[in-house]
Amino acid sequence: MKLIQVNNAAEGGKKAFDLVKEAMENGLETMGLATGSTPETLYQEMVSSDLDFSKLSSVNLDEYVGLSATDPQSYHMYMHEHLFAQKPFKESYIPNGKATDLSAECQRYEKILMDHPVDLQILGIGRNGHIGFNEPGTAFDTPTHVVELTESTIQANQRYFDKIEDVPTQAISMGIQSIMKSNMIILLAFGTAKAEAIKGMIEGPITEELPASVLQNHPNVIIIADSDATCEL
Ligand code: GLP
Repeated sequence: MKLIQVNNAAEGGKKAFDLVKEAMENGLETMGLATGSTPETLYQEMVSSDLDFSKLSSVNLDEYVGLSATDPQSYHMYMHEHLFAQKPFKESYIPNGKATDLSAECQRYEKILMDHPVDLQILGIGRNGHIGFNEPGTAFDTPTHVVELTESTIQANQRYFDKIEDVPTQAISMGIQSIMKSNMIILLAFGTAKAEAIKGMIEGPITEELPASVLQNHPNVIIIADSDATCEL
């Protein structure tokens, strides 16, 4: 794991953007994308750049179960607003949270991932060390799956919803196995709320209790974090 320390999220977004640009110069075909507040500065850099993403494919990590693609709180809508409306990709895949058969949807998504191996995966990290929506306790060999969100994740994500009852309790997420297949991973983390998870991920044992710790086993991970997120190292 390589750690790049930055002063703030704006600088982190710029650093991540430089790495994306470099990967594109080296033949990047498929980018794995994340949602949440963390990758926003990277997406701002991508939007304001003169780069053309229309020859790239993208696959997103996850989507809430029960939200349609047009729901303002859905990750489909997040991606549209933060990136795709301004910078369309050749093709963009996100799990369908409204699928009537969720296990068939997971299989469909795994097939998409097989057809579009991820060259560069962008990740954020949950306060409890989750990546994608892979909560503590998720087996490392899990492919795309339906997740029961933990109380702490529901509370953390409540800020995007009017009331806590509106926060979906399930999601479809790429599994840890799917994430680990990416050639290169950039994990972004900003703020003290992430400090404990960052410490566990970098210094702690590799354990399913802290899903991001599995990244210690990956040969090409770059962590871009600010001083708040690294304050416990
Ligand atoms: C959600 C997403 C994750 C994201 C995490 C942290 O749970 N599924 O992909 O990394 O939130 O979100 P934020 O970046 O807003 O702190």
